[in-house]
Amino acid sequence: MKILLIGGGGREHSLAWKMAQSKLCDRMWAAPGNPGIAEHAECVDIDIMDSDAVVAFAKENGVGLVVIGPEDPLANGLGDAVRKAGILCFGPSAEGARIEADKVYAKNLMRAAAVPTAEARVFTDLESAKAYVLSREHGVAVKASGLAKGKGVVVCPEPYQAVKPLEEMMRDRIFGDAGASVVIEEMLIGQEATVLAFCDGKNIYVAEPLQDHKPVGDGDTGPNTGGMGAYSPVPIIDDAMMSRIEREVLVPIIDAMRRDFGRYEGVLYAGLMFTPGGPKVIEFNCRFGDPECQPLLMRLRSDLVEVMIATAERRLDEVTLDWDPRHSVCVVMSSGGYPGDYTKGFEITGIAEAEQAPDVKVFHAGTAIREGKLVNNGGRVLGVTALGETTAEARRLAYEAVAKIKWRDCYNRTDIASKAIGGNE
Ligand code: AMP
Ligand code: GLY
Repeated sequence: MKILLIGGGGREHSLAWKMAQSKLCDRMWAAPGNPGIAEHAECVDIDIMDSDAVVAFAKENGVGLVVIGPEDPLANGLGDAVRKAGILCFGPSAEGARIEADKVYAKNLMRAAAVPTAEARVFTDLESAKAYVLSREHGVAVKASGLAKGKGVVVCPEPYQAVKPLEEMMRDRIFGDAGASVVIEEMLIGQEATVLAFCDGKNIYVAEPLQDHKPVGDGDTGPNTGGMGAYSPVPIIDDAMMSRIEREVLVPIIDAMRRDFGRYEGVLYAGLMFTPGGPKVIEFNCRFGDPECQPLLMRLRSDLVEVMIATAERRLDEVTLDWDPRHSVCVVMSSGGYPGDYTKGFEITGIAEAEQAPDVKVFHAGTAIREGKLVNNGGRVLGVTALGETTAEARRLAYEAVAKIKWRDCYNRTDIASKAIGGNE
């Protein structure tokens, strides 16, 4: 089978790395790809927001499966265009992608399906939003309704702290039209974890749980990012909790989507907070998480292409997901300054040395080749991922690998996965 992978971040590098191991993969292209993905696929310069151009390339080259990594092309209808052309697609329709791209829609759907989630109100008027937060006694989370690269959420333990982000989102439009309406939620307290499920429109198949680290600083301080590291499995989620999440969250939301528009196909990501009142949904995403995909796929033993084809052909019940019992940890190395301004173009060294350790893989996110040298070219630059018998061992291996990699002003959190092993050692 010939495969076209859409995207060019760490998530897509891990997808390309895993799909390239499949006996079913004859040839792979990636649009736009990155220097890490280029080891497994031919990178092509197609505008992924131009669905017609992507479909034309797929047809010309006899592509049998299109795998869509990021949310933007999904929300833009690429999944629909690919399926309409009679090509297998891994990724939901534009209607399905609304579960992520439109937080107001997602909130209403959760309410209708009685999926446990934070209490929320929606505002399109800045003054009303400000008056509302100032009337609150407890913390709030302010969320731009549209897509904002994982940065459109500000958690405010004191309600008055919400005024500035509301002004920035609604008046200054720092996230563009994504801030035309905002969702203001009660602030939930508890540990977070992510559960992903493969969905074929009929069956769902839940993957191993993960935990992401959204804030940029150690101890969960500073602004939110796309994710600074992740690990799997997660000690707070045992089998009984997993069944509860499937029953109370995944099945009802998939049913609600079926009633609303039809089949949801691809991967559904549930970001959850484990509150004293049970698990509550913080967000749904219409794709694999990034970086979560990297430690997840390190643990997947099954043939990913086989699973994706089965999902696209609506026979997910015929495959099994076989997981490595070992634990995985991914530490994201970013450009200094991210999620704010940063400088691109510094030479990166040490990746080959870092990958000499067994069960260590360095996934590329924001990298580029300039004048024959590998340089940083984005906020999140590398996902340094390791497998170990325990989370502590995987974490040690990941950080040993991180220590070998350098570029000017590179940055990483030093406490990824410390919650899973108790304390902040
Ligand atoms: P999201 O982009 O919706 O996942 O939000 C980013 C991060 O903000 C989450 O991973 C949480 O850490 C935090 N967050 C979002 N909503 C809430 C909430 N209602 N209460 C507390 N923290 C939240
Ligand atoms: N790491 C969080 C996300 O992919 O949305």
